[in-house]
Amino acid sequence: MTGTNHYDLLIRGGTVIDGTRRPRFAADVAVRGGRIAAVGDLRGCTAAQTIDATGRIVAPGFIDSHTHDDQALISEPDVPFKISQGVTTVVTGNCGISAAPLRPGAELPMPLKLLDAGGGGRFTTFRAYLDALEALPPAVNVVPMVGHTNLRTIVMDDLDRPATPDEAAAMRALLEEALAAGAVGMSTGTYYPPAAAATTDEVIAVSRPLAARRALYVAHIRNEADRCMEAVEETFQIGREVGTPVLLSHHKHMRQANFGKSVATLRRIEEEMRCQCVSLDCYPYTASSTMLHLDEERLQGRITIASSEAHPELQGKDLQDIADAWGVSRVEASRRLQPASAIYYSMDEADVQRILAFEPTMVGSDGIPTGERPHPRLWGTFPRVLGRYSRDIGLFPLETAVWKMTGLTAQVFGLEGRGAITEGHRADITVFDAQTVRDVADYDNPVAPAEGIDAVVVNGVVAYLHGTHTRARSGQVLRRTPVL
Ligand code: ZN
Ligand code: CU
Repeated sequence: MTGTNHYDLLIRGGTVIDGTRRPRFAADVAVRGGRIAAVGDLRGCTAAQTIDATGRIVAPGFIDSHTHDDQALISEPDVPFKISQGVTTVVTGNCGISAAPLRPGAELPMPLKLLDAGGGGRFTTFRAYLDALEALPPAVNVVPMVGHTNLRTIVMDDLDRPATPDEAAAMRALLEEALAAGAVGMSTGTYYPPAAAATTDEVIAVSRPLAARRALYVAHIRNEADRCMEAVEETFQIGREVGTPVLLSHHKHMRQANFGKSVATLRRIEEEMRCQCVSLDCYPYTASSTMLHLDEERLQGRITIASSEAHPELQGKDLQDIADAWGVSRVEASRRLQPASAIYYSMDEADVQRILAFEPTMVGSDGIPTGERPHPRLWGTFPRVLGRYSRDIGLFPLETAVWKMTGLTAQVFGLEGRGAITEGHRADITVFDAQTVRDVADYDNPVAPAEGIDAVVVNGVVAYLHGTHTRARSGQVLRRTPVL
């Protein structure tokens, strides 16, 4: 039977937290043609498929504002580590690195190598990457960004100096290609060796094409330790001079001497938000994870190996123990483990909570889908915010938690028709149990699906139901709607 009261999918009896921070309300949610067709009392209606959401929360699908899923979307298109958390959309191309464009042939520097498909699998244009995504498609929607480090490695033969004006112009042309293909922004990672020599002027010169589209300038800032405030100021300056919105990635303060400095940086961010468009994200953990560094300064404190191509048998081991066993320094041990990624136990819980609770902060996992011992944020970020931080610690109401991973994020990235349970919106929906939702993945056992996620719907198609991936892959590439 078809007609106005018959739907593709009916989610019955749940409590809607709609992603706008409005208080929860009881309602059925109906889906037709990939969109939310009705929200309200829908008794008497029928549907091809029904999900009983009695006692459950019905929320917009979560948007992961910061990921490194670029290559995994192609190689593991079911993306179980995201779908099982209730994530229906991922933002890629962060920290200066993206799966495209890449120069074929040449060996890639870390951390870009983390996204390398190797030999024939590289995308030489941004459009080729988006075409490959659309041909698959993966199980989640993708909001793609391009990395400045990619552009540098294509254009420059020596990465240890600033770009010349000609090289900056060549990078601008590559950025234009990416934006025309659908990139919603460009990220930089001046913290990392391949982009550390890029001056503020270089970043401004390369970023110019962002302004016409109000595309995002996204920064893994130059320093998240002793000189974090300076690096925040540099990001503001770039945004002001280019004339485009800026996003501070995974805001944090590393090393004990800097604990507590989030009070000052958040105050400064709040102040600057009155003058220019600034947003930020963070992940709910006190350990960070990235490439295994090679300099003593960044190899301080407790470090465990997340992945190592040279020594996969040492994944999960402590760097100091490895160095001791080999009778070498930590720097030398790190050199022998390359290419490798690591977990750095470097932050203060009070800073993490303060940043997460800061009103404009979005939730972003920063998960790195590489190796068998990834940081637990890859599988646990969103349930951890809902369970540990909202329910158990009471850092903010559940309505705020959901907003920080849906409505707020859709607004920052200009994703029209996403991020809210509203008639007419695309049907990205996550059903979860507020009483039991929790992250299971931890540092000892990092590959584990969360508990309490009942159903995940992507563009109207059920991708996850009662702990089982349906293998549906209904994601789309989302391009930015210009905000003027
Ligand atoms: Zn980063
Ligand atoms: Cu990142």
